[in-house]
Amino acid sequence: MKKICPSILSADFSNLAEDIKKVELAGADIIHCDIMDGHFVPNISFGPDIVAKVNAVTDLPLDVHLMIENADKYIDAFHKAGADYISVHVENNHHINRLVDKIKSLGINAGVVLNPATNVSALDYIIEYLDFVLVMSVNPGFGGQKFIPNSIGKIIDIKKLIIDKNPLCEIEIDGGIGLANIKEVSEAGVDMFVCGASVFKAKDPSTVIAQMKQIINK
Ligand code: DX5
Ligand code: ZN
Repeated sequence: MKKICPSILSADFSNLAEDIKKVELAGADIIHCDIMDGHFVPNISFGPDIVAKVNAVTDLPLDVHLMIENADKYIDAFHKAGADYISVHVENNHHINRLVDKIKSLGINAGVVLNPATNVSALDYIIEYLDFVLVMSVNPGFGGQKFIPNSIGKIIDIKKLIIDKNPLCEIEIDGGIGLANIKEVSEAGVDMFVCGASVFKAKDPSTVIAQMKQIINK
């Protein structure tokens, strides 16, 4: 089954628990947590303490997307906070194998993230060790940005690589996903769909999630 992963970056932080419950009841599969440090990306979001609070109010798995420098220093903290998936960027982590091994040794699903302009070849020597690849379809840092269309071709290329080298590896897409493009993205080979603004800024997030699930699991 393909999964909808609402990103709480676009939730109402003064009513965070309520917003999370709402998407959980609506059928969300995973809660996506965007961790930003103001260095790797030009924005600051939240850290392990908030992730632990999120974990306390939901039974859903937590997917922690690290947009930070020195990710290696924080893996244990996010593990303690309840992360079920952790992804790290290839652009700023020089020892990706070591990081992936560390994440997997804690029993967490390990993923690697590619920014929109990063070549698929960055995955060539790591793909066989991954549980998932996260494809950024916007430049990371903010919710509510426009989907970059050539991400579709990139997903198709990554899917080929996965079939060849690690068929169990999943593809996650992040940035500008909504009802207008989820069908095309799904058909390209995506398994996990991060949705921020399209879910949390919608008048009725439940209807949007229901419609998305119908499209991707057809
Ligand atoms: C962007 C984050 C995304 C963001 C997605 O840096 O990684 O997860 O919250 O938000 P939307 O779906 O609004 O583009
Ligand atoms: Zn994200």
